[in-house]
Amino acid sequence: MQVFIKKDYEEMSQKAAEIVVEEMGRKKDGFVLGLATGSTPVGLYKELIRMHKDEGLDFSRVTTFNLDEYCSLAPDHPQSYHYFMDDNLFNHINIDKKNVHVPDGMAKDLEAHCREYEKMIRDAGGIDLQVLGIGGDGHIAFNEPGSSLGSRTRVKTLTEETIKDNARFFKNIDEVPKYAITMGVGSVMEAKICLLLANGAKKAEVLAKAVEGPITAEITASVLQMHPNTMVVMDEAAGAKLKRKDYYKHVEKMTDALKKK
Ligand code: F6R
Repeated sequence: MQVFIKKDYEEMSQKAAEIVVEEMGRKKDGFVLGLATGSTPVGLYKELIRMHKDEGLDFSRVTTFNLDEYCSLAPDHPQSYHYFMDDNLFNHINIDKKNVHVPDGMAKDLEAHCREYEKMIRDAGGIDLQVLGIGGDGHIAFNEPGSSLGSRTRVKTLTEETIKDNARFFKNIDEVPKYAITMGVGSVMEAKICLLLANGAKKAEVLAKAVEGPITAEITASVLQMHPNTMVVMDEAAGAKLKRKDYYKHVEKMTDALKKK
């Protein structure tokens, strides 16, 4: 795991954008980008939009797969993840909407759709870089505590904690969907690069457990310790409880110095 601790949310988002753009540049003939919703990656998406508008960053050969979607919300529902992605990224860049994939929470046969989603990822050549946030209970995508670390794309029942966390986006808690389609932990682990982002003091404890604690299905993000190419980018507040903070900063400085040689 490479750990980057940045001063604040803005610097965290800029670093994340640098990483995404560098990887996009390595694979100009077709880049497969895995995306997350939630508040954490919004700054990254803003920076990508800015780079598209100011610097001509080209998304015409980018294919995207989102991690998850609520069941029973149509793509044009303002609280659906599809709507969120349109609003926060896709409507502002030159991506071909044919190359955009978000699980369909309205699919008649949800299980068949989950299998098809996995096949679409495979047919696209797999995900080159997967953007991830971490939930208050340590989840990645909607893989709540206790999810199998080998799980695949499937329908999950959301925990009460996640339902409460998400209630801020709905008029009242009864409107929050109780199920979601989510890529599994095993599906996420197949991405060539995982980019986990975290900001704010609220994430400090769980992030320390995910990065430095034992690997456990209780904190599904902890399995990223087994991934050969994971980068974790956080702000100071989210990194506050890491034991090896100084070491990570030292490694970043030394790696930068090596690149300049
Ligand atoms: C969303 C997703 C979730 C979020 C996580 C953190 O697509 O996969 O795992 O990344 O719940 O959410 P925020 O960023 O709102 O704190």
